Amino acid sequence: MTKKLFAALVLASLLGCANMDHTTLMPDPVTTPPSNSATLKDMPFPFGAAVNASLLRSNASYKALVVKEFSSITAENAMKFGTLHPAESTYNWTDADEIVALAQANGKRIHGHTLNWYKSLPTWVTNFQGDTQAWENLLKTHIQTVVGHFKGKVASWDVVNEAFEDDGTYRNSIWVQKLGTDYIARAFQYARQADPDALLFYNDYGHEYSTAKRTAILNLVTSLKTRGIPIDGLGLQMHTRYNQTDANISAAITSAVATGLKVHISELDIALNPDNNQSLTYTASLADQQAAKYKSIVKMYYAIPKAQQFGITIWNVTDGDSWIPVEYNRPDWPLPFDRNYQRKAAYQGILDGVK
Ligand code: G3I
Repeated sequence: MTKKLFAALVLASLLGCANMDHTTLMPDPVTTPPSNSATLKDMPFPFGAAVNASLLRSNASYKALVVKEFSSITAENAMKFGTLHPAESTYNWTDADEIVALAQANGKRIHGHTLNWYKSLPTWVTNFQGDTQAWENLLKTHIQTVVGHFKGKVASWDVVNEAFEDDGTYRNSIWVQKLGTDYIARAFQYARQADPDALLFYNDYGHEYSTAKRTAILNLVTSLKTRGIPIDGLGLQMHTRYNQTDANISAAITSAVATGLKVHISELDIALNPDNNQSLTYTASLADQQAAKYKSIVKMYYAIPKAQQFGITIWNVTDGDSWIPVEYNRPDWPLPFDRNYQRKAAYQGILDGVK
């Protein structure tokens, strides 16, 4: 080897170890992709992803990864009120039906998200004028039309999403303003009437960082159960961060298990840049800590009673598709695949969680 070539190789290797931005074509700084043929479909419980309808349509690599890796599918946005029901007498099923067809063609479970939320509402709802009965009818009609449309196809629904503030008080949503807090119970009843076989979930975030919110959620679902309101599961969104403590995550999971409901880690992602540092780069150390956090979450989840393991769903697929960099306007790398559709260290962390 010439001296020049040797120097070039040393330089290349040093650059490879430097803190490279993972948005480029650099390979994962911690692990090379596992070369075995195991996929997340082989996990001992359903492992899913939220998917974006337009990406599935336009991006063959994205679609191939979704088909290859996941046993459960949630529509990231396609089943929300604003997408499905843009005008009072108009339903737009296109995106959602395409996702359902893809999932069915590939033998994947479909989890519906979400029948009721304070966000992503069309203006016809936010501007709606009517008395209590008219609002009740609006709520019931939407839930029953949507659940009815997907009856026998969608296995489970997030019936009500994010009804609480972080301090444990009810969010003053349009639904609470118009119908009071007990609309939640009726939303579950309407969903059950429309598809008696679909499993019904209450879904929220923050169980791992707010004891007040967690307590409020647990009190709600326990009271629904006691009253005989049809609820089958609790969704812990788990939009978390690499430096969240295992103790807090464990408290979130074990308290959910104590309700006796099925537990869905429903929107998992692990942010690496929770402090919004605009110049942060993706380093081997961060990748490693993220992998360790994915592993410990999966491990804790795998330890809960089998009958309560509804599954884990990540919130979209690759770092390039995640809502986090967009929403917080910052660099971040929250998911187990990089934007080149390659498995990250976090992917191996997930597999290691069930070893
Ligand atoms: O599709 C339109 C596009 O046509 C338009 O040009 C563009 C301009 O803003 O907006 C696009 O729609 C955006 C949509 O995502 C698709 O990318 C909406 O503005 C944007 O509000 C929407 O954000 C979604 C958000 O929920 C609000 O519905 C995120 O993708 C989605 O990840 C996020 O998911 C939520 C869960 O439903 C509930 N839990 C929290 C989670 C993260 O916020």
